[in-house]
Amino acid sequence: MIRTEFIADVKKLVREWKSAGLSIGLVPTMGYLHEGHASLIKKAREENDRVIVSDFVNPIQFGVGEDLESYPRDFEADCNLCESLGVDLIFHPSPEEMYLPGFHSHVGVDTLSTNLCGKSRPIHFNGVCTVVTKLFNISEADRAYFGQKDAQQLCIVKRMVRDLNMNISIIGCPIIREDDGLAKSSRNTYLNAEERQAALILHKALTKGEELVKSGETDASKVKQAITDIINSEPLAKIDYVEIVDASELQAVETINGEILCAIAVYIGKTRLIDNFFA
Ligand code: PAJ
Repeated sequence: MIRTEFIADVKKLVREWKSAGLSIGLVPTMGYLHEGHASLIKKAREENDRVIVSDFVNPIQFGVGEDLESYPRDFEADCNLCESLGVDLIFHPSPEEMYLPGFHSHVGVDTLSTNLCGKSRPIHFNGVCTVVTKLFNISEADRAYFGQKDAQQLCIVKRMVRDLNMNISIIGCPIIREDDGLAKSSRNTYLNAEERQAALILHKALTKGEELVKSGETDASKVKQAITDIINSEPLAKIDYVEIVDASELQAVETINGEILCAIAVYIGKTRLIDNFFA
């Protein structure tokens, strides 16, 4: 496996691979890799001749007061995991390599970025779209792999690629969970033992919500209320949002008829966790 911090190195390799007619899969990550990331890498490995993992804590998608500085990092462990999964290239740039002095260009998807996490993180998705566009351009990947864990991000990236005619296929991958149901996340490491137990309330509440929808409940406010009540029964939990939106435009629905996304963000202590289901 090749490791590099430099865009020029990636471009050189990509040129060689492309001229040999090889397909390229890209897995964009912020590192501190876990089994959720591994599931994306495995799928990329199955479907492409060459696999690139990017490992970059992207500063421009963090708001003021968010966890940019404390975001967990362990590049050696990430390299070991990637190597064991047959990754060809791990790209680990510095912020200076990605954002030159005088960097003024941004990519954004409106409407879809304003709701859900966009409400409390107003610059987040522009930061994501900008870095993802750069990674697509640098890697010239045929396919890029994203988790449904970040459902809004997945919808936004798919829309950006469609709207801007980008030459890449976006592959969505299911949420990987711990045995007790908690969605795997690099941020789970922030939780102490008591908070880790309290965090189970997200999956518990969503499971109830999904049951209600599957059993034919079409009143979104009743489903949201049931989810809210369960989360509020946990003293360490504080709701950021509980929303049911249409799966295409991500706008709130009152009645559940087409495909919906039910998404939640909940603080457990100081740690903000997200989870969701599509129905
Ligand atoms: P990060 O949080 O590291 O996640 C990288 C990818 O792994 C995302 O597509 C995310 O949805 C996926 N992922 C994380 N946890 C998962 C889980 N439990 N199950 C399945 N997939 C999971 O998302 C980002 O980084 C960044 O915003 C990025 C796209 C890299 C842009 O900076």
